[in-house]
Amino acid sequence: MTHILAIDQGTTSTRAILFDDEMAVAHVAQQEFRQIYPQSGWVEHDVEDIWDSVVAVCRDVVAKSSDIAAIGITNQRETTIVWDRETCKPIHNAIVWQDRRTSDFCEELKAEGFEVEITHRTGLLADPYFSGTKVRYILQTVEGAQDLADAGKLVFGTVDSFLIWRLTGGKRHVTDATNAARTMLYNIREGCWDATICKRLGIPMSMLPEVLDCAADFGSTDMFGLTLPILGVAGDQQAATIGQACFEPGMLKSTYGTGCFALLNTGGDLVESQNRLLGTIAYQLDGKTTYALEGSIFIAGAVVQWLRDGLGIIAKAQDTHPLAEKADPSVELYLVPAFTGLGAPYWDAEARGAIYGLTRNAGPAEFARAALESVGFQTRDLLEAMHADWPASNDGGAEGILRVDGGMSASDWAMQFLADIIGAPVDRPKVLETTALGAAWLAGMRAGIYPAQDEFAATWALERQFTPAMSEVDKDRRYAGWKDAIRRTKS
Ligand code: G3P
Repeated sequence: MTHILAIDQGTTSTRAILFDDEMAVAHVAQQEFRQIYPQSGWVEHDVEDIWDSVVAVCRDVVAKSSDIAAIGITNQRETTIVWDRETCKPIHNAIVWQDRRTSDFCEELKAEGFEVEITHRTGLLADPYFSGTKVRYILQTVEGAQDLADAGKLVFGTVDSFLIWRLTGGKRHVTDATNAARTMLYNIREGCWDATICKRLGIPMSMLPEVLDCAADFGSTDMFGLTLPILGVAGDQQAATIGQACFEPGMLKSTYGTGCFALLNTGGDLVESQNRLLGTIAYQLDGKTTYALEGSIFIAGAVVQWLRDGLGIIAKAQDTHPLAEKADPSVELYLVPAFTGLGAPYWDAEARGAIYGLTRNAGPAEFARAALESVGFQTRDLLEAMHADWPASNDGGAEGILRVDGGMSASDWAMQFLADIIGAPVDRPKVLETTALGAAWLAGMRAGIYPAQDEFAATWALERQFTPAMSEVDKDRRYAGWKDAIRRTKS
């Protein structure tokens, strides 16, 4: 058996990617599924839609090759599912990571000073982004749920955990350390579920899955006509960190999808951020935890979707940078895409998008440029916070290089501006399927068909490096303009 099946269960689509014995992509199947918006700021998925999409894409891949040694799973993080232990039926739609419905309760937690406890124990903030308050919401709003949970009849899991439960026919209730780290219920210092937080949120600990390393025995499935062991699991941003081989402290990656998630490997140091970044688990291998500082921005590629669907000034995403190139250099627009509030390092749920610097000359080209630039500016915000939190990130072997992946990393224009505004090299790898590759490597390494960590890291290959070309004066002036725009936008 020489191939690995990676399941990448993302926010808007599910993909199954078959990797061959050389870790090259042999086949991809993809299926989008429905997004449910019951109210402003609420986002749900029908769990059966997720499941059906997983089954469909896996069947597609298995039909192409039965030479599969193992499965690796990577997934949208934080998204919360509660299901019945007996029937395996969810008792509520999955509440998606973007959902803000628990923000009032998070404010309560902050007002009573509990956020300090949360941050110290989990590395996170009291924010609706994470699973904990979503589980509480389900228990409190679905009739009889709290009693059933207290009686041990309900279970909770992030998407990986639910998929494994179903794939193994209910035999395993497990997750990996990176997904556990995003629930706001997992003590990342001690490496265990946190009784104090669970008690405050009214979540019985019997609902929680067993937490394993990222490369471990997660059970096996017979669903696709073969017996396939599940040997690797990581949340998607952590899987991308692994796929980008950011294994040394100081190494940094940023993934540009709908949002942007930057992770800085801080090795064995769990850094308590003074700048409202998140402390999290980068990966856990052989019982050893490697930590990361994470900056999460909710709108990155989504700003390009807005140019297309909201403003109608481009027909497709790839039109953005040719349009941006036509912008009048004398018009300096600042677009703050706070469509759903601001993420790190501001965490301002009430802020809304704004644009500054409009003149009579400002038109579609200037909007397109401002949209792409907003992604660079937001990334610099994250990197500034990272450098302030962890001065070691200013030196060391990684030389401040940022490894990039995700849809928007394909734009040369956006990547050049990014290098200019952060004042550091931006490296784009040859393999852009880093998230799936991370999950595949975990499973393949565990199965003994893929190389060990160092050898895997040596296979990372550069496609193109973008080096900073903007003058210091321009860089400082532009960034000061952005900071001013942020100051004016905050609620
Ligand atoms: O934290 C949310 C993140 O895991 C979602 O990633 O790629 O599914 O939008 P994506």
